[in-house]
Amino acid sequence: MAKKMGIYKCEHCGNIVEVFVEGGAPIICCGEKMIFMEEKTADQSVEKHVPFIEKTATGYKVRVGKETQHPMADEHYIQWIELVVDQYVLRKELKPGDLPEAEFTIEEGKDVYAREYCNVHGHWRG
Ligand SMILES: [Fe+2]
Repeated sequence: MAKKMGIYKCEHCGNIVEVFVEGGAPIICCGEKMIFMEEKTADQSVEKHVPFIEKTATGYKVRVGKETQHPMADEHYIQWIELVVDQYVLRKELKPGDLPEAEFTIEEGKDVYAREYCNVHGHWRG
């Protein structure tokens, strides 16, 4: 069964989808179940992926990598950064050469977290 806000990837064609509403069936692509991309929360290597949230005067800034920025090369980069503030879901799509960060203008929330997706290392939450 698909999970609300779950990210699923097709191992064959590379399609990636996010679920808005949970249905009762698995998500199929290229004839097979899409893979659920688990939200990882702890880096175990030197390279940092867990998104880091800072409060700004107008909202929030999310960075991937505190001291060392995550690479943004053609073959390895952060594809998007999402910020969830209460019932709002904000997303910035990134491309190679961009900074691995995103700034969002929104009122301060109670339940705030960020997620990001690395094209090599998958889905992360912080
Ligand atoms: Fe990575």
